Amino acid sequence: MIARYELRCSRCAKPALRHDAPCAACGELLEFALQAAPVDASAARAYVAMVAGRRAGNDPLDRSGIWRWRELLPPVPHDAIVTLAEGNVPLYDAPEIAAREGVAALAFLHLGMNPTGSFKDLGMTVAISAARAAGAGRAICASTGNTASSMAAYAARAGMEAYALVPRGKISGAKLAQMRDYGVRVVEVEGSFDDALAALTDGAHDGAAVVNSINPYRLEGQKCTAFAMLEARSWKVPDWVVVPGGNLGNSSAIGKGFREARALGLIDRLPRIAVVQAEGAAPFVTLYRSGTDLIPVVPRTIASAIAVGAPKSWRKARAELDASNGVAVAVSDEEIDAAKGRIGAAGIGCEPASAATLAGIVRLRADGILSASDDIVAVLTGHVLKDSDASVRVADRRDVGA
Ligand code: F0G
Repeated sequence: MIARYELRCSRCAKPALRHDAPCAACGELLEFALQAAPVDASAARAYVAMVAGRRAGNDPLDRSGIWRWRELLPPVPHDAIVTLAEGNVPLYDAPEIAAREGVAALAFLHLGMNPTGSFKDLGMTVAISAARAAGAGRAICASTGNTASSMAAYAARAGMEAYALVPRGKISGAKLAQMRDYGVRVVEVEGSFDDALAALTDGAHDGAAVVNSINPYRLEGQKCTAFAMLEARSWKVPDWVVVPGGNLGNSSAIGKGFREARALGLIDRLPRIAVVQAEGAAPFVTLYRSGTDLIPVVPRTIASAIAVGAPKSWRKARAELDASNGVAVAVSDEEIDAAKGRIGAAGIGCEPASAATLAGIVRLRADGILSASDDIVAVLTGHVLKDSDASVRVADRRDVGA
């Protein structure tokens, strides 16, 4: 099974010649649109068995949880591929939390268990490989810390220089240290992530490959989250997939992955997607409720990874909610901290942005949107060591019983 992908506008569908500029007709983000007919059930089974078998091999592409699915990715010359064996992530069952919330099943797909500790690696291996294939010598991004750490590692492996624009004083010390370890050049920008991204997209970057999630190659890697989750569940589709939302690239990518799995005949229905934002950075929840276009906000939340006030991929994410009958919900910083404490106490651990998923599940259950029969997967996006200040805050509060 080899899928074909057409690079085109995600809004007006006009074909595009290059991936590194918005649509020439309407200015929206591009996407790689799948052009393939569904295969029959036996061909689908044979394909997923072949991909599963690759795990046992020693070829670095087969060892990658992304490149194992290479027939379902836009083509990248194999000699340009930079991989750190990303994407081999665990699905942790959490029966006690499921019972406490009164749902049938809850598991955490832990994308923090990636080489640089976040889901960004899933997309970065594709974006950096494509940039390397195109001859780029430099990579650049704006970041709340995880994108930049991932970029820095993959760029270093590719022999490329890397530049990160980060909001001054608004990212975790661990992330800043990590990206510097890989040799990135850090430029601190006043304001929020949105100001850093605006500085990047408005400015000249002189041939450097922009590897934020506006780069459609990133989302192609991240869509494999859907395949990994399905594979770990023996291709049983969950009722809900719960994802934290910042710039909204990841929720868009995961929704696309499920839609493609269905279009190819690998599954026969879609899970509903729930996007969870922090209350102080919830413009997507506002537009989901009101039906308006994006109204940017100045982001404020302790979940610094998702402190994004003007998410670039909001149209894509809205399309995924429409396709999957999904929802968007906002949670408070206190709810995020409480959820982080529970995920830690379950022996799993994650950074605050990831804990927003459990906080969202609590909210959606209380609101009656999740029901007792639901089988739920929450996507944890960042490792517990990504934000140790948050761990200290949450544990101190737990210790005094507050
Ligand atoms: N969770 C974590 C741990 C993140 O780092 C991010 C985004 C998200 C969730 C949200 O994903 O932006 O695709 O909706 N971090 C970006 C960064 C902004 O620069 O590392 P999204």
